[in-house]
Amino acid sequence: MPTQKALVLAEEFGQFVVVDNWPMPPTPGPGQVLIKVKATALNPVDWKMRQSGLLVQEYPIVSGWDFSGDVEVVGEGVEGLGKGDRVVALGFPPTGFSGFQQYTLMPADLVCKIPDSLDYAEAASIPLGYASAAIGLLAASPTGAGIDPTCALDGVSFAGQPAFVFGGSSSVGQFAIQMLRTLSFSPIITYASSKHTEFLKSLGATHVIARSAVRSADVPAAVRKLAGGAPFKIAYDAISEGGTVVAILAPVKDRGDVDGKKLIYIVASPHIHREFGVRMVKLLAKQLEEGVIQPNRIEKLSGGLAGIVDGLARMENNAVSGVKLVVFPQETA
Ligand SMILES: NC(=O)c1ccc[n+]([C@@H]2O[C@H](COP(=O)([O-])OP(=O)(O)OC[C@H]3O[C@@H](n4cnc5c(N)ncnc54)[C@H](OP(=O)(O)O)[C@@H]3O)[C@@H](O)[C@H]2O)c1
Repeated sequence: MPTQKALVLAEEFGQFVVVDNWPMPPTPGPGQVLIKVKATALNPVDWKMRQSGLLVQEYPIVSGWDFSGDVEVVGEGVEGLGKGDRVVALGFPPTGFSGFQQYTLMPADLVCKIPDSLDYAEAASIPLGYASAAIGLLAASPTGAGIDPTCALDGVSFAGQPAFVFGGSSSVGQFAIQMLRTLSFSPIITYASSKHTEFLKSLGATHVIARSAVRSADVPAAVRKLAGGAPFKIAYDAISEGGTVVAILAPVKDRGDVDGKKLIYIVASPHIHREFGVRMVKLLAKQLEEGVIQPNRIEKLSGGLAGIVDGLARMENNAVSGVKLVVFPQETA
């Protein structure tokens, strides 16, 4: 049986370990592609899977949600992708579509081509953060805020309407700011470390409330003041414990109402929200081509897949600020 190198979590609460005898994925089935993984980005969900078993149904498991690489083999019926295409994708490790290995399968309709302007590492920083923003803001309620489930964004504009992002320097926060900018929300207010102010303004934030200057409990008052009392349609919380929350601050009767405000808890997976996910991937390809969505700033880790272990420990200890950690599986010793 052909094998490859992979970073494997063998048991619940175990350790991630590099192995060189992980099975190669099978030949792609209809509608699938085999990708040679050139870069994979680290996410909080990776260390949460190890720490708490989050989303894991069966061990051993290979994590890695964000990855980019080259199409190696194309399955039956796949259109628009061919061997050698540079692509990026959001995987789903519980079903084996994972980046912490050297090769992975993916459903072809959830794979996005990378424009020449981006390298593999930059591209790998995008999918999960982008999906969190796109699903949270665009997908139909109760999956998302329902701004544009078609993803066409034709004539959609919220000019003059304020929006807020809690935790703008996080990976998810950066994409939420950018998506709100493409929807013409204004002002776009965010709460983040002041060292990221200029960068977040380059992504579309109009005001950055410094974490060092305002306690989180006082953020609502500071945000209202900056918006001059105008009502908020969207407040996007990219940090909240246990997941990402989008709140539509309008009194509606729906699942998740709190104090007359609609709360949406995101599951940022195009595999789960498949029809929307296929449209979202097309929108991503368009927005990357047009340059209206920028990747996260990245920090490249050495050691191939082995470099993931220390990277995840840094993330777990809140020692990563405003960058995405990226490794290169083909460099694994
Ligand atoms: N539900 C879903 O489907 C879904 C999808 C994706 C992510 N998530 C979750 O969303 C959260 C964010 O993910 P991520 O990948 O964006 O994380 P990340 O980029 O690793 O987050 C690190 C950033 O968070 C900022 N931060 C931490 N605590 C903060 C606070 N109290 N106030 C403001 N900023 C704070 C830090 O800002 P500074 O250092 O600049 O201060 C740092 O830049 C994680 O909990 C993740 O598990 C959920």
